[in-house]
Amino acid sequence: MKIESKTVHWGDRRKAADFTPVTTPIYTAASYLYESLDQLDRVFALEEPGPSYARYDNPTRSALEELVRELEGGAGAIACASGMACMHLALLAALLDRPKRVVAANMMYGATTSMLMNIFGPMGVETAQVDACDLAAFEATLNEGKTGAVVLESIANPLLRVPPVDKIAALCRAADVPLVVDNTFATPMLLRPLELGGNIVCHSASKYLAGHGDVLGGVIVADQANFDAVRALSRTLGPVMGPFESYLTMRGIKTLALRVERQCANACKVASWLATHPRVERTFFPGDPKHPDAESIARLFPPNRFGGLVSFELKGAGRAEVFRFMEKLKMVVRATSLGDVHTMIVYPVMGSHRDLSPKHRERLGIHDSLMRLSVGIEAVDDIIADLQQALSD
Ligand SMILES: Cc1ncc(COP(=O)(O)O)c(C=O)c1O
Repeated sequence: MKIESKTVHWGDRRKAADFTPVTTPIYTAASYLYESLDQLDRVFALEEPGPSYARYDNPTRSALEELVRELEGGAGAIACASGMACMHLALLAALLDRPKRVVAANMMYGATTSMLMNIFGPMGVETAQVDACDLAAFEATLNEGKTGAVVLESIANPLLRVPPVDKIAALCRAADVPLVVDNTFATPMLLRPLELGGNIVCHSASKYLAGHGDVLGGVIVADQANFDAVRALSRTLGPVMGPFESYLTMRGIKTLALRVERQCANACKVASWLATHPRVERTFFPGDPKHPDAESIARLFPPNRFGGLVSFELKGAGRAEVFRFMEKLKMVVRATSLGDVHTMIVYPVMGSHRDLSPKHRERLGIHDSLMRLSVGIEAVDDIIADLQQALSD
């Protein structure tokens, strides 16, 4: 070979080494060599395991998918480039050969509601919104028309309501409608929707799964009946997570149990403290014994674990007072995300629910005085001290 060809070929395409790394390496190759074209044919036909082409699969991504599949207890998983890519793929797969009607919880991440209204709507998919915590209302809406999919969040954004996922799953099963659950806030450490009868679980892995504020990604886990459709659509459309993000997410998940345990404990203390502060009008926290969904929470969550999120309203506050409070925070990070090791605060009116009209937000009870805190793993006294100084005049 001449030197120009050597620069292209030398050192590459060595046969996979015969050793076992203790963690999964980052494989960036887009495609692979096989012993023969017969083998290539078998791999691409899914008759023989092995990587084929990066849109279809990737060894780093496959390792992450196997991990999250096991944590959620599904038949298969696909890691996507974002949580929203997962929600899109899950609903496309569910609706493919079913009636074009979705029953959706009225309280969800704003972009999920926008996707249904502004993308699925114009394409002929009708969405009926309902309070998923009101089982009778949910049942009536489900049976009002021929429904192709139900979608909800296991802890709903941003007022932290907890729908009775097990009872909803039973109604969906009776009506033969797949239930898609966004389990981002709860994580499999608190709740595993497939074990409760759900069919497809979605995560924004950008949040608790990766956990360090350095990944955009998502994971779908589906049961046997729905996984083939999810995988087939993913292989055609390719909304998949890249190898580097897959590596970071897998690395993050290794400490998920520890992080969530600490975040839950810290959130309990922060919520109790906020509830007694004279400038706080109301707190929203699944660990509050007076929470409107206390019965579902006691039935579905493990003891003394209520997640790391706490929402609260400042007394008599509008945007100006909220801005003043948030800008005084020194350690708590004002950033649009959640589930990271650091404590973060968002203003749903400007962040997660900015796409909804002010009227729509008011109808849902998302007031201008509402903030959502994602409690991190810091020393809880430091979190409370920062909130205290920012609340003082
Ligand atoms: C509950 C929930 N689901 C889905 C998403 C979308 O995730 P991503 O930003 O990774 O697309 C978010 C993002 O904030 C979320 O909070």
